Amino acid sequence: MALMRDKVVVITGGSRGIGLAAARLFAAQGASLALCARGEEKLREAARMLGETYAVPVLPHAADILDTASVQAFVHAVASRYGHIDALVNNAGASSQREADGVNWPVNAVDAVSQPLPPGRFEAISDAEWRAALEQKLLGMARVVRAALPALRAAQGASIVNVTSIKGRQPPPRVVTSGVAWAAAMNLSKALSLELAQDAIRVNVVSVGGILTPQMEAGRARWAPGKTLEEFLAPRVANIPLKRLGSMDEVAQAIFFLASPLSSYITGQCLAVDGGGLRSI
Ligand SMILES: NC(=O)c1ccc[n+]([C@@H]2O[C@H](COP(=O)([O-])OP(=O)(O)OC[C@H]3O[C@@H](n4cnc5c(N)ncnc54)[C@H](OP(=O)(O)O)[C@@H]3O)[C@@H](O)[C@H]2O)c1
Repeated sequence: MALMRDKVVVITGGSRGIGLAAARLFAAQGASLALCARGEEKLREAARMLGETYAVPVLPHAADILDTASVQAFVHAVASRYGHIDALVNNAGASSQREADGVNWPVNAVDAVSQPLPPGRFEAISDAEWRAALEQKLLGMARVVRAALPALRAAQGASIVNVTSIKGRQPPPRVVTSGVAWAAAMNLSKALSLELAQDAIRVNVVSVGGILTPQMEAGRARWAPGKTLEEFLAPRVANIPLKRLGSMDEVAQAIFFLASPLSSYITGQCLAVDGGGLRSI
């Protein structure tokens, strides 16, 4: 018996990367899906592939988590089609790195303070940059949960999984905006797990370390065209105990576990998928 049959799963940012990998797992277990992303063409392509491969209903709906009306329209479309939501995966977001002095120099939670760091120091971070990080990582998530709550309450025991970064638990040694915004998103997740327990809604977090996605290759091509992908990632991999980046499927498995009935007595938890990069338990 498929574990997610008759379950409605909503994934923001489901058109590629981690969100699409998770959508595959849910579809393989019989879930009915609703996916959003800003780019409509890629979203429809993903929905078509999932529907054809797994023979499950898939609703693609272009939406921007930074725009309240857009999020409300997405959730309205989901509720009209399915009536309720059993699992909401808040995954949408851009993993862009900060550009400082014309150089894009990724800063990671696993970076050592002794290694070369990017030139952009704290005092160079503008209010606009702070606001953008909070919009992207905290308010986007809050907006989607707020809009989805009536449909989540209409399910018999729903689950929310918020995808964040281990930067929210272990700040990188420089360029702090995204770590602070992720920390706020995790604090919100814990608070929601307390508030929504009375509605039988569980709320958990998957905090992600370095994951190999097509975006990494795009970053290498743009910022280090003279290097191989292995050379580009070497400084980062050096500080990861498992000595490699993770795969999108490895993150998707954690999302699936926390969204599914397999974790029915788990709420308010954060599961790091990071190859051991986080230095605490
Ligand atoms: N990959 C990593 O190493 C890593 C590490 C830490 C945290 N994360 C987080 O994990 C999540 C997934 O990462 P990923 O690597 O799979 O990213 P990705 O490959 O860039 O995919 C992001 C997805 O989100 C959508 N999206 C982006 N901004 C959106 C917006 N404003 N509204 C609606 N949809 C939006 C994208 O589609 P459109 O562009 O068409 O909208 C796409 O479907 C992100 O929140 C990211 O910050 C990733």
